[in-house]
Amino acid sequence: MKKICLILIMASVKVCFGQLPLYKQKAASVEARVKDLVGRMTLEEKILQLNQYTLGENTNKNNIGDETKVLPPGIGSLIFFSADPVQRNLVQKKAMEQSRLGIPILFGFDVIHGFRTVYPISLAQACSWNPALVTENCSVAAKEAVLSGIDWTFSPMIDVARDPRWGRVSEGYGEDPYANAIFGVATVKGYQGNNLSNPYSIAACLKHYVGYGMSEGGRDYRYSDVSAQSLWETYLPPYEACIKAGAATVMSAFNDISGVPASANHYTLTDILKKRWGHDGFVISDWDAIEQLIYQGVAKDKKEAGLKAFLSGVEMDMRDNIYFENFKQLIAEKKIPVSLVDESVARVLRVKFRLGLFDEPYTTIMPEKDRYLQPESKALAAKLAEESVVLLKNKKNTLPLAGSIKSIAVIGPMAKDTNNLLGSWSFNGRPADVESIYKGLENEFANKLQLNYAKGSGFEGTDESGFAEAVSIANQSDVILLCLGEMKTWSGESASRSSIALPSIQEKLLVELKKTGKPIVLVLSNGRPLELARVEPLADAIVELWQPGVAGGTPLAGILSGRVNPSGKLPITFPLTTGQIPTYYNMRQSARPFDKMGDYQDIATEPLYWFGHGLSYTSFEYGTPKLSAQKINKSQELTVEVTVKNTGGVKGKEAVLWYVSDPAASISRPVKELKFFEKKEIGAGASAVFTFTINPMRDLSFPDATGKRILESGDFYVQVGNQKIKFELVD
Ligand code: BGC
Repeated sequence: MKKICLILIMASVKVCFGQLPLYKQKAASVEARVKDLVGRMTLEEKILQLNQYTLGENTNKNNIGDETKVLPPGIGSLIFFSADPVQRNLVQKKAMEQSRLGIPILFGFDVIHGFRTVYPISLAQACSWNPALVTENCSVAAKEAVLSGIDWTFSPMIDVARDPRWGRVSEGYGEDPYANAIFGVATVKGYQGNNLSNPYSIAACLKHYVGYGMSEGGRDYRYSDVSAQSLWETYLPPYEACIKAGAATVMSAFNDISGVPASANHYTLTDILKKRWGHDGFVISDWDAIEQLIYQGVAKDKKEAGLKAFLSGVEMDMRDNIYFENFKQLIAEKKIPVSLVDESVARVLRVKFRLGLFDEPYTTIMPEKDRYLQPESKALAAKLAEESVVLLKNKKNTLPLAGSIKSIAVIGPMAKDTNNLLGSWSFNGRPADVESIYKGLENEFANKLQLNYAKGSGFEGTDESGFAEAVSIANQSDVILLCLGEMKTWSGESASRSSIALPSIQEKLLVELKKTGKPIVLVLSNGRPLELARVEPLADAIVELWQPGVAGGTPLAGILSGRVNPSGKLPITFPLTTGQIPTYYNMRQSARPFDKMGDYQDIATEPLYWFGHGLSYTSFEYGTPKLSAQKINKSQELTVEVTVKNTGGVKGKEAVLWYVSDPAASISRPVKELKFFEKKEIGAGASAVFTFTINPMRDLSFPDATGKRILESGDFYVQVGNQKIKFELVD
């Protein structure tokens, strides 16, 4: 009897399995499942998959979003503002059980530099020159996001940005295409892991494709005059690298690329991204970027905007409701081919299948204390913050603070602040999780040093009433630690500034304190390079802390005490004055480069701190680079080696940046281009060998205005430290 029952059960399981539609069978391939599902869908169901709405309270002031109260169960995606996994599961249950085919919703959110364990802003991360550490931090962000009901982040931003007036410089990795590519890839790896279906992987979204960082005059959302040459040479490479690394999705930008908006640009979205690079995920528009096509002057109404965006290659409409409202008609009018709808839906579903959403649509609910801010996560965030700090100036070894220092006057609007240290795009970050600078100092110097505190001034305004107290405590202390900077709302989206100087009240506070004659250590926390022309001469040491996230003042305290040896180097140039913008290290070569010819007459030519600048408490001596050959042909590789000796008294980490320059080519090349970097810790008195292998096609070629790579023979230079060595490439 038992046996008969078993046979019956097995038979019914088999029947059930046989009846299970192919798209629901976990063992089937993603492509087979996608094809099967698309084949079963009605037009209405397909259109719904191409739309994203929002759920929860949106706190981004730039996106005045309406919460979709009545969600159709078959909706493609939601921006999930509430971060409540229970709510996600309820909404997901509706999708799974009430939509005809049980298609899961894709929950997206802006997880930009950490979720609850906020780590330094992206620009600061790049100062670490430690992409592996960035990857580790991104995996923490991914895990916290997953546990909050999120499957997909709108990150990384890999827009090469050379105008610090633009608030969004804080969100990317600086002025160099290679650095943006490497940190972009590191980020994608951290979010996605080695497989999107891993329980704690989320899908990445590369943004803002493309040329957004070129926004005219540093204003946001503006026209970008990107030549085809710069597009290929500067703005596309980070995207290409991240697509190769498997980034699941891409976001089309707000900006207009030389007359054709990025969200209606067939050339970039379809010809390059899909056809040339073979991206098989999908493109989502930026928030209401499709509707913006009307304001950008390329569509007469929403219907035309939707048509243009879709035909160009934008598969998902973020929050506009334009696809949802117009596609049925556009398809009936035969303006949109059904085959394109099918292909687009397949792209969206492919990502959902890859994420494993059909098989595991729900979030595991864990108590909040187990979800966020785990000790090892905080330790990783602190490590990244430490490596992100850049010691900009250190006159007569003001730092680390000498044993003779018995008291510090901790002054400035940033000294006890916790909110602004989080930086922009830190929606789930809480000021209460952040160690202020003052707290960090208290922990570091407990019972060793006296801390005297005065706020001195606000971040802006004209109130000087706090100056007297600040001067008074400065007079009673051995050294002044002046903590200035930007509020977090001063950078990020739609947060451009016409001047990148600190507000005058902060500069005045510094001037007053200088009169005390006490040494001044200036600590800056900001989201962009600052104009420090008047400030720099008054400070004995300057520490760029950036916006470090939850670690807050702890890494700074470690650097002040000498427990941590600073190792950050700038990924973006600090101009001397705002008027020098644009100034970046990899400018193209120009005519009459002698005797300041062509430069501004009223200001210095040199920026204050170049890309790559950053001091240490030790000194590193670069030996003479050794080349494996003086001459190579186009199919050979060249190895360059340099020995770096730590000649100081403490161990330290050195990031070695390798550049290549090509003095004579058919298309003028930048004065030098970063091609490789590596960071190593070197003990006091010890040496380390750094090696760069030059692959001619990868490192010496350049694209033309169509993206074709050209490799020309001739003389080249490899540069490391302040040395420049010639070699020859022959056919
Ligand atoms: C921003 C994007 C962001 C999106 C969703 C837009 O306004 O430009 O970077 O991902 O909003 O929040």
